[in-house]
Amino acid sequence: MKDLAIIGPGKVGRTLALLFHEKQVFKIGALIAEREATAKEAAGFIGAGEPGGTLSDADVILIAVPDPVLETVISGLIDTDLKPGAILAHTSGALGLEMFAPLQGREVRTVCAHPVKAFSETARSVDTFTGTMTTLSGDASACSDLAAAFRAIGGQTLEIPANTDRTLYHAGIVFMANHLPTLVEAGLKTFEQAGVSRKDGLAITGPILRDTLEAVLENGPAAALTGPVARGDANTVARHLEKISRADTDLAALYAALAHATADVSKEKGEASADGLAAIRALTKPVG
Ligand SMILES: NC(=O)c1ccc[n+]([C@@H]2O[C@H](COP(=O)([O-])OP(=O)(O)OC[C@H]3O[C@@H](n4cnc5c(N)ncnc54)[C@H](OP(=O)(O)O)[C@@H]3O)[C@@H](O)[C@H]2O)c1
Repeated sequence: MKDLAIIGPGKVGRTLALLFHEKQVFKIGALIAEREATAKEAAGFIGAGEPGGTLSDADVILIAVPDPVLETVISGLIDTDLKPGAILAHTSGALGLEMFAPLQGREVRTVCAHPVKAFSETARSVDTFTGTMTTLSGDASACSDLAAAFRAIGGQTLEIPANTDRTLYHAGIVFMANHLPTLVEAGLKTFEQAGVSRKDGLAITGPILRDTLEAVLENGPAAALTGPVARGDANTVARHLEKISRADTDLAALYAALAHATADVSKEKGEASADGLAAIRALTKPVG
């Protein structure tokens, strides 16, 4: 079995290490953290690994440190003894292969391996990892080796081009996955204004949210879109805006920005009249 070392056995590092250990994909070797106590705690959680061990035996080194220290941590490996052909993979979404520049000339294979998942609570992350998508880019043979390893722990992988703009790639994920809870929060605040409790609000919208998300994933945003903007119903949009803004102008501004963008999706859908959409665009035009 190949040897896996983890630099940064925090939420992402220890979740992946536990899964690779449980499925016997890798033998867990060195666990290197900033503080010794973290590495020891991670070894206890994983049930394997050597806190503070050496990297020279590692076939794969997974670097899962916070983004602000990633470059420094990789620079720190310049004079470290590494196995020829070892895979060095970092798990950042926003940073790319340029992070490995300090190791240019070393006989190692470098990869960005970004698990597209919210690793907020470690035990839950382990239980819900199945199906998680990990994007890979970098050395082709290393991507292929890691793809097999991620598949073996129930994940999916997709190779993305090495020249992908990582900032925009990451922003795209943030737009969809991180802003979805914010949309739900905005809806719940609007319900509160109407006198509907948050609990009832979630009960009312849970089924339509799930159904809409499934429809978006199956058929795309335009096909899944319904509601007043999809119908070009400017009067309803105006009434919504007027009522929401009485209590909360920030919420009204968010509604307007989203309705404005939704008008573009509606145009693609092709059911609303051009006049209706023009009226909605005028009503929701960003200020300034
Ligand atoms: N959390 C997510 O949902 C998520 C999802 C996908 C990708 N990522 C990416 O994965 C990476 C790790 O994120 P995370 O959420 O797992 O972070 P985290 O829970 O904060 O864990 C970071 C780990 O790095 C260690 N560390 C910090 N500075 C170090 C240093 N100078 N040398 C060695 N180890 C050091 C920490 O050890 P100490 O505790 O001893 O400081 C800790 O074990 C980041 O690039 C992040 O962008 C995160």
